[in-house]
Amino acid sequence: MLEGKLVNLRVVEKEDLPLLAEWSNDLKFGGEYWSIQQFSKSEFEKLFTTESKHEFKDFFIEKKDGTKVGWITHFYLLHPLGRLLEIGYSVLPNERGKGYCTEAVNIMVDYLFLSKDTMRIQAIADVRNLASQRVLEQAGFRREGTLRKTGFIRGVWTDDYLYSILREEWKEPRILTKK
Ligand SMILES: CC(C)(COP(=O)(O)OP(=O)(O)OC[C@H]1O[C@@H](n2cnc3c(N)ncnc32)[C@H](O)[C@@H]1OP(=O)(O)O)[C@@H](O)C(=O)NCCC(=O)NCCS
Repeated sequence: MLEGKLVNLRVVEKEDLPLLAEWSNDLKFGGEYWSIQQFSKSEFEKLFTTESKHEFKDFFIEKKDGTKVGWITHFYLLHPLGRLLEIGYSVLPNERGKGYCTEAVNIMVDYLFLSKDTMRIQAIADVRNLASQRVLEQAGFRREGTLRKTGFIRGVWTDDYLYSILREEWKEPRILTKK
C-alpha cells in the first residue's frame, strides 16, 4: 500500500472488480467529460485479466479509515518512438473537493518516478474539465498543448489538453520516501 496523509493507494485485486465495474458503469462517477460506455462484469474482468500491451495497473484511493473513495490508474500508451506512461483517475461524487485526488496524483507521481525508468508522466484532461486541470497543475504537471477532437463524449467530439511532468521537474518525492 502507498501511504499519504489524507489517502492511501491500494492495488485493485480481482475480487474488487465487481465494485470497480459498478463504479465504472455509474455515469456520475465518470462525470460529464468521460465516456458513458458500459461494461458487463465479465467484460470488465476480461479487460483486467487479459495480458495487455498497455500494462495498466489500477489502485483504489482510500481514506485513512480504509473507505474507498476513488480510483487511479497508470498505463503505457504505445507510441512509434517508445511507450508513454499515462495516468487517469476519478473520485466518488460525494467525496470530491476534499483534496483526495490531488494527493493521490502526488503519491502516484512519486511512485512512478521511484519505481519506473521513465522520463515523463502524462495525463489528458477535457478542455472543459477545470477540476482535473487544477489537480494536475497542483501536482506539478504542465500543459503541453491541445489534442483536437480526440474524445467522443456523449455524442460530441471533444478537445483535450495534454499535460506532463518530467523527472527533472519532479526533482524529489513529495509524499513517499526513498527509504
Ligand atoms: C477530477 C476529479 C478526479 C478531482 O477529484 P477531487 O478529489 O475533487 O480533487 P481535489 O479535491 O484534489 O482538487 C480539485 C480542485 O479542483 C477545483 N475545482 C473543482 N471544480 C472546479 C471547477 N468547476 N472549476 C474550477 N476549479 C474546480 C477544486 O476547488 C480543487 O482545487 P483547490 O484545491 O484549489 O480547491 C473529480 O472531479 C472527478 O472524479 N471528476 C469526474 C471524473 C474525471 O473527470 N476524471 C478525470 C478525467 S481526466
